[in-house]
Amino acid sequence: MQIKLKPIGVVRNEFRDEIPAGWETALHRIVLDPQWTPALEGIEEFSHVYVLFWLHGIREEVRLHVHPRDRQDLPEVGLFCTRTPRRPNPIGLQLVELVAHEANVLTVRCLDALDGSPVLDIKPYLPAGDSAPAARTPAWLRKLWDEERLSSLSTSREQGCEK
Ligand SMILES: C[S@@+](CC[C@H](N)C(=O)[O-])C[C@H]1O[C@@H](n2cnc3c(N)ncnc32)[C@H](O)[C@@H]1O
Repeated sequence: MQIKLKPIGVVRNEFRDEIPAGWETALHRIVLDPQWTPALEGIEEFSHVYVLFWLHGIREEVRLHVHPRDRQDLPEVGLFCTRTPRRPNPIGLQLVELVAHEANVLTVRCLDALDGSPVLDIKPYLPAGDSAPAARTPAWLRKLWDEERLSSLSTSREQGCEK
């Protein structure tokens, strides 16, 4: 089966090639095609939304096993256990803070998409169904988080952004 996807908009920000340290505080604009403006009515009543985007610049081949964040000291795991951008379908999923809504433009924080990323969908975050406070996580991930808590990267998790 082949699936055709049509972008509904594009991400606009200052990140052309990489997402630098400090990304969690940057503001991004999600500019939707004006035909979708009516479909955003009421979105500002949500504080957070999910953004699904296409990792359009990915050229690297997909590997079935990866070291999380390319860290050789962490165990190799199956690619679906990670958020690696090198995926069979390079779809990015990010929970973002909705800062403003005007017409066809959303201003958001906590987005780890490069400038020009095609946007596939926007969905509201529904706390009752979307959060799992007792969720299980692997030891390697808890190690990463512990390290980040002790470093400057900790801001991203304090802000509620996860890359
Ligand atoms: C690790 S992926 C995770 C994306 C999303 N948060 C997720 O969990 O699906 C995020 C990284 O992908 C890369 N990236 C973001 N947008 C991209 C794009 N349009 N094309 C290629 N790489 C991109 C950046 O290096 C960014 O740090």
